[in-house]
Amino acid sequence: MRFFLLRMIVLFLAILPLSSDAQKIKADKKLLAVADKYLTAAAAQYKILQQQLPADKFPKTYFPTTGKYEWSNSGWWCSGFYPGTLLYLYEATKDASLYQEALRILQLLEKEKNNTTTHDLGFMMFCSFGNANRLQPKTEYNEILLTSAKSLCTRFNPATGCIKSWDSKKGDFLVIIDNMMNLELLFWATLYSGDSSFYKIAVTHANTTLKNHFRSDNSSYHVLNYNSETGAVQQKRTAQGFADASAWARGQAWGLYGYTATYRETKDVQYLQQANAIAAFILNHPKLPSDKIPYWDFDATTIPNALRDASAAAIIASALLELKEYVNAKTAAQYVNAATVILKNLSTEKYRAAAGTNGGFILQHSVGHFPQQTEIDVPLTYADYYYVEALLRYKQLNRK
Ligand code: GLY
Repeated sequence: MRFFLLRMIVLFLAILPLSSDAQKIKADKKLLAVADKYLTAAAAQYKILQQQLPADKFPKTYFPTTGKYEWSNSGWWCSGFYPGTLLYLYEATKDASLYQEALRILQLLEKEKNNTTTHDLGFMMFCSFGNANRLQPKTEYNEILLTSAKSLCTRFNPATGCIKSWDSKKGDFLVIIDNMMNLELLFWATLYSGDSSFYKIAVTHANTTLKNHFRSDNSSYHVLNYNSETGAVQQKRTAQGFADASAWARGQAWGLYGYTATYRETKDVQYLQQANAIAAFILNHPKLPSDKIPYWDFDATTIPNALRDASAAAIIASALLELKEYVNAKTAAQYVNAATVILKNLSTEKYRAAAGTNGGFILQHSVGHFPQQTEIDVPLTYADYYYVEALLRYKQLNRK
């Protein structure tokens, strides 16, 4: 009880007073000075990737030891990251060829707006068409995004209070922490259409996840299995983590980013508290290395020899660079410092690929699915996407 009270006081102090000083946090001058260089180098890498990409495919990963690529079709959960990264890189460099390639691949992606077999439509459609619409608003994009939001909502079940992540056997209803990342699309849909049902579904999902997905230390389970008729929690387990009770690094990153975005869209302080609590779990974790690039699971028994996950690091850095906007000056400085350390380390030759290598991907050393032994210590499109997003957010620090 004392621990709980102490924790609530710490969280309260983190958000009050929301000082305007938070807006004045300065970026690290050295990182700021090279951010554009990194973005230009990233754009050059993506042109290499583009040259290798078969016309009807999306990049998935590349195996540096064999020089082989893995491509996907538009239905793979990561299909939005390649166009999204191209759009961010176009924003950074104003290189029109990146924009043209983004427009080309968006045409291939569009049909996924009708996909009701996945919860990943936020990743797929909002990182891609959402960014395209932000850069150049078009009625066509709005309609694609609205249709995508409607498709996502078909997976909502009022009995569980959640959007279903993965289809499974009758009676089961699987929800993963990653699903928090798909809610932004629904908040957008309510703003665009004026129909509050998207907002209500997003908030209900966020509330149910808040209630059931987190442990007392504010780490999260990966997968919850609800009874699809009663809504009762039947299982708390993992799919991509080391163990059911472990803290899978990317899952913690998705939770951090997801609750930060949900606070932005709702201004409901309980989401801000959860985002701060997740940040505290990650940043104070004794197994977080000093370079702040997490091991693929905080509880991997092979630490310190366990693989690092650059994708988790990139997502955390980007999330912290938004979350710092909503907290007091002291906490904001901690978040910016942590993001600085992550971005500086991701930008060293250990993680950032040398020009012309890594098949054209930007970052090395991510872990996709360790238990399944797929995408182990490889480049991944979402590591690149959130790294580039974080660099762009970093550049904004001194403009405020
Ligand atoms: N399920 C999405 C991920 O691998 O992070």
